[in-house]
Amino acid sequence: SKVTVVGAGNVGATCANVLTVNQVASEVVLLDIKEGVAEGKAMDIMQTQPTLGFATKVIGVTSDYSKTANSDVVVITSGLPRKPGMTREELIGVNAGIVNSVVASIIKESPNAILVIVSNPMDTMTYLTFKTAGLPKNRVIGMGGALDSSRFTYYLSQALNTNGNNIEAMVIGGHGDTTMIPLKRLANCKGVAVSDILSAEVLDKVVADTMVGGATLTKLLGTSAWMAPGASAAFLVKSILNDEKRVLPCCVYLEGEYKHNDICIGVPTVIGKNGVEAILDVKLNAEEQELFDKSAAAVQVMNDVLKEMKL
Ligand code: NAI
Repeated sequence: SKVTVVGAGNVGATCANVLTVNQVASEVVLLDIKEGVAEGKAMDIMQTQPTLGFATKVIGVTSDYSKTANSDVVVITSGLPRKPGMTREELIGVNAGIVNSVVASIIKESPNAILVIVSNPMDTMTYLTFKTAGLPKNRVIGMGGALDSSRFTYYLSQALNTNGNNIEAMVIGGHGDTTMIPLKRLANCKGVAVSDILSAEVLDKVVADTMVGGATLTKLLGTSAWMAPGASAAFLVKSILNDEKRVLPCCVYLEGEYKHNDICIGVPTVIGKNGVEAILDVKLNAEEQELFDKSAAAVQVMNDVLKEMKL
């Protein structure tokens, strides 16, 4: 199988590295607009082959879309990341133009590919891609909830002093500091509700830390994080290529699910060889549905900004 990763920056190169060393695909193409960068990063990854011993081949190209032809999955990470103090929403001006042109070039070469959108503001970039690419909705997937869920799991594992592998926790809604919804009611440690183990105060702190998890890293690093984002995108690709039918919160086009229409936002999905194979209805309670409605309204504001833009 073949995977293209567009954008050979921090997230794209990390994603390509995880895909390659874990042999998720047989062939990985890394593409960037910056002369030589994708070639250099691919060469660097290939030079870990003797040490790590994988069979996957990764190549890098500068804007040569012909090399991406017939990809099974394409991950789009091209665009500006946020700097400390910025919100993801502030990136829309530059990134909408980049994502729009990249998607058009990708579709020409790989009309059957499943697209995974990472560029921010991700929910709106996923909506843009769905509206412009002309692909069925199961083949346009935004990655954000998988990462936010990993961060939620991380903070829970710290609070519970346990290994994150014991925890199941999900974040739905928009991929923004104020729009994401860590589902604390459903989070569990080996089947035991975390709300039965942690005090309400501690659990609320975990939720608050999760929501600004990305901003915390951006402040520490001086730019947006890439290890967990790159790995989360690669994990999503793995669930597609291996037809794992994993339950992952992903940003997908809604037509009435969770009471919303004509919007791309994070909901629990089943991810397999056809991309989004199902949207799971986890039966939100009134409080959670209200948070979801607010989140959708905030994503809608960005989609409206997009509609006013000349791309
Ligand atoms: P980066 O600046 O390290 O890399 C971005 C790369 O995109 C650069 O190498 C740049 O040359 C390339 N690029 C720009 N325009 C291009 C074009 N037209 N064609 C091909 N390549 C192009 O940024 P980083 O940290 O890798 O982040 C990438 C994006 O992912 C940002 O928008 C960031 O906000 C987003 N992100 C999303 C996450 C999520 O969970 N959805 C998590 C982390 C980052």
